[in-house]
Amino acid sequence: MPKRYTPNDNWSQKAQKEGYRARSVYKLMELDERFKLIKSGMKVLDLGAAPGSWLQYTAEKVGPKGKVIGMDLQEIKPIKGVQTFQQDITNLKEIAEILKKDQIEKVDLILSDLAPSTSGIQDVDQWKSIELSQSVLDIARKFLKPGGKCVIKVLRGADFDKFLMIVKSKWKSAKSVQVKASRDRSKEIYLVIDN
Ligand SMILES: C[S@@+](CC[C@H](N)C(=O)[O-])C[C@H]1O[C@@H](n2cnc3c(N)ncnc32)[C@H](O)[C@@H]1O
Repeated sequence: MPKRYTPNDNWSQKAQKEGYRARSVYKLMELDERFKLIKSGMKVLDLGAAPGSWLQYTAEKVGPKGKVIGMDLQEIKPIKGVQTFQQDITNLKEIAEILKKDQIEKVDLILSDLAPSTSGIQDVDQWKSIELSQSVLDIARKFLKPGGKCVIKVLRGADFDKFLMIVKSKWKSAKSVQVKASRDRSKEIYLVIDN
């Protein structure tokens, strides 16, 4: 049974105790409680998925009738009920080939907790985060079912408002959300987009 989201000060310890690979799982739990993202039997694509705590939680929730696929530049250690690929998500052609091989035309939900390798220069990192988000949206445009949802982590900065405005104009709806499990003073925002 997947654990329920409860606010906590020591997320890393809690993750270890509950058998999740990263504290990030509590961010997804919080978003899932709020937006009812993950349901039994769904097909879910997780982009930037290593080490795999979102995959663990999602696989528990979709159950044996669902399908969970995770992609990351890093190798992801096996997780029961999850297919993983070491893959750069900016290569749309390769992603299309992977999904085609697996006979997946569309998915119900796309998750992205992608984080660019940081340069230490805030504007550069934030820009890289927006570029990655744009790649996620390209994937969503091609592979997200009508009525599906897409969750994307973006680093807030100078270009964020403009980016959000463009997303809102091109998708059915987009909400920006801060989660309690993010570190204090974190710049991360999650966009919850409806197709
Ligand atoms: C914060 S971690 C994800 C944590 C994950 N949600 C979890 O719960 O375990 C961000 C990931 O984004 C991946 N990443 C960054 N750029 C990428 C790219 N172009 N293609 C695929 N993965 C990428 C990193 O390798 C890193 O593992």
